Amino acid sequence: MEFFVDTANLDQIRKAMDLGVLDGVTTNPSLMAKEGIRGNDAVMEHYLNIAKMVGQNVSAEVIATDYEGMIREGQVLAALHPAIVVKVPMTRDGIRAIHTFHSEGIRTNCTLVFSAGQALLAAKAGATYLSPFIGRLDDLNMDGLELIAQIVQIYRTQGFTTKILAASIRSSLHIVRCAEVGADVVTCPLSAMEGLFYHPLTDKGLAQFLEDHARNNA
Ligand code: E4P
Repeated sequence: MEFFVDTANLDQIRKAMDLGVLDGVTTNPSLMAKEGIRGNDAVMEHYLNIAKMVGQNVSAEVIATDYEGMIREGQVLAALHPAIVVKVPMTRDGIRAIHTFHSEGIRTNCTLVFSAGQALLAAKAGATYLSPFIGRLDDLNMDGLELIAQIVQIYRTQGFTTKILAASIRSSLHIVRCAEVGADVVTCPLSAMEGLFYHPLTDKGLAQFLEDHARNNA
């Protein structure tokens, strides 16, 4: 399973890279706004900086909601850097745009996916990645992980090659559960990724080893 960090913050991306297990980055317009990145030129420059820094799999989202606008924006984004993956919302125009991008060899990430039916459409259209938002489903007392498991089952049965990118991750446990049910990728906040490191018995065991070594070498 690949690990992407879900942020537009360069410092967080650098820290995630330093962990040594990072495979990519996802952003969205809300994450860009959080960083105060405003205006088309600034947005493009920021995507380029992230792509140069990470060198692979950087999702950059179109803002247009009509087919022609999505195609225009997506082509500009894809031409920015080879690491860019064009993120397209799960709408009628979005699915049509994904189909066109697929035929042009432009990689896509179909975002805002909340059902197996939507996952089926995105795979049929040729999406490279599919982003089901599990945390937002959990927030509504629905089972986000169950949706991931269902999509894994459908894609395996049907032989689809679209990668399942579990998004809207809220915790380290979400990451582990996504791995269990067969997600291809998780995109998560740095804190959830860092949470995987921690176990009190690791800390306790290491302290004991160091203490015994120090006593033995005093
Ligand atoms: C995915 O690509 C989205 O950027 C993200 O995971 C959304 O997560 P949220 O529900 O925490 O906003």
